[in-house]
Amino acid sequence: MDTGLGATMEFLRSVVPFHPAPIIAGEKVILRAPTMADYPAWSSLREESRNFLMPWEPIWPSDDLTRPAYRRRLRRYQREMHEATGYPFLVFKAEGLTLVGGLTLSHIVRGVTQSCSLGYWMGAPYAGQGLMGAAVKAIMPFVFETLRLHRLEAACLPHNAASIRLLEKAGFTREGYARRYLCIEGRWQDHLLFAIVSDDPRP
Ligand SMILES: CC(C)(COP(=O)(O)OP(=O)(O)OC[C@H]1O[C@@H](n2cnc3c(N)ncnc32)[C@H](O)[C@@H]1OP(=O)(O)O)[C@@H](O)C(=O)NCCC(=O)NCCS
Repeated sequence: MDTGLGATMEFLRSVVPFHPAPIIAGEKVILRAPTMADYPAWSSLREESRNFLMPWEPIWPSDDLTRPAYRRRLRRYQREMHEATGYPFLVFKAEGLTLVGGLTLSHIVRGVTQSCSLGYWMGAPYAGQGLMGAAVKAIMPFVFETLRLHRLEAACLPHNAASIRLLEKAGFTREGYARRYLCIEGRWQDHLLFAIVSDDPRP
């Protein structure tokens, strides 16, 4: 008996087109893939925001802000984009095109899952201005319409009030709690798990 399942599985396996990271315009923000020319602004914003970001991120390697490490980072991003497993974006304020932060789509899994993980950071001087909220909103059509993914996931520390607020405002649902899920600031720490799926309402 033909249930149609075989054909569906074949379709899910085959549809992994190559998409270059687009330039995305949102409300107040522009998102695009990082280039070598962004290195000076990126490294100085990360340095300036070190104390603000450190409690929420993996430990930065000692050479993280150097030009060679940035070049290696870009090579990894290129590989991920080529393999369609991840897309990195820098976030710029639309007015003046100032670099304000970064947003990354990673761990893109196709097949029966069709999911991906969202990560983000905002430079300390620009936090609390609604810019990452605008960036997350702006990335959704790329995730769900261009890449045709089914599920976008995000994890955050239970005491990261800004991140929780941002995700809930963007339409994510809190789905779970993962024990010692990510190694943040050098320690395996519990995380809240959030997700939005393609047919969820998007504010
Ligand atoms: C989380 C982060 C990316 C949010 O970026 P942002 O541009 O400041 O986000 P937005 O301004 O769009 O939205 C943040 C929301 O959280 C609220 N918020 C900020 N700090 C808060 C706090 N301490 N308690 C409660 N709410 C807070 C803001 O008021 C805003 O809500 P509102 O729009 O209803 O006013 C940024 O704070 C950041 O980079 N933090 C450090 C690194 C980090 O947490 N990375 C993410 C790991 S999961």
